[in-house]
Amino acid sequence: MVILDKKIEELKVLISEEEIKEKLITLAENIEKTFPADEEIYVICVLKGSVMFCTDLVKHFKHPIQMEFIRISSYGHESKSTNNLQAIDLTLPNLHEKNVLIVEDIIDTGLTARFLTDLFKIKHHPKKLVFTALLNKKCARQIDIEPDLYGFEIDDKFVVGYGLDYKGYYRNLPYIGYFPN
Ligand code: IMP
Repeated sequence: MVILDKKIEELKVLISEEEIKEKLITLAENIEKTFPADEEIYVICVLKGSVMFCTDLVKHFKHPIQMEFIRISSYGHESKSTNNLQAIDLTLPNLHEKNVLIVEDIIDTGLTARFLTDLFKIKHHPKKLVFTALLNKKCARQIDIEPDLYGFEIDDKFVVGYGLDYKGYYRNLPYIGYFPN
């Protein structure tokens, strides 16, 4: 039995499973409108945090899609951001002149979003690059960057669930929760 300092009994629901489900329908619709009709989209799922969001989101897409997965090291096991980012397991196909959608769980300081968008622009020269995140912690931003589209704006709280973790735990929760101080 693992003893965690942040316990599930203390967790409060911030965004319910139902709210997420509803949001994904409109978000997917709006994302698709930003791409040329009928053209294929390369969906880049940023592991591990966006796995649930991304796999649920693509179920609503009508465009033909390809799914790719990349892993970025950013938080480690702490709940603090770092600008020491690294792309790991970055084996992607040729995305030159392709429609690319980067799918992130949350945009917090903006460091990861900047790193990813620069990486894709410089290395891959896509035809169109769109960045989406389920959650937007606008008030925590350190870099001047905004997602093209996002699901929910949230306060500067550390959240878990629906792919987001604390020390690797709580990713499996179907809702977004937070630990009150
Ligand atoms: P940023 O680079 O500070 O914008 O942070 C982006 C990454 O930090 C996300 O992809 C998450 O993995 C992680 N992160 C930021 N805020 C939270 C949070 O509240 N809970 C869990 N992970 C977070």
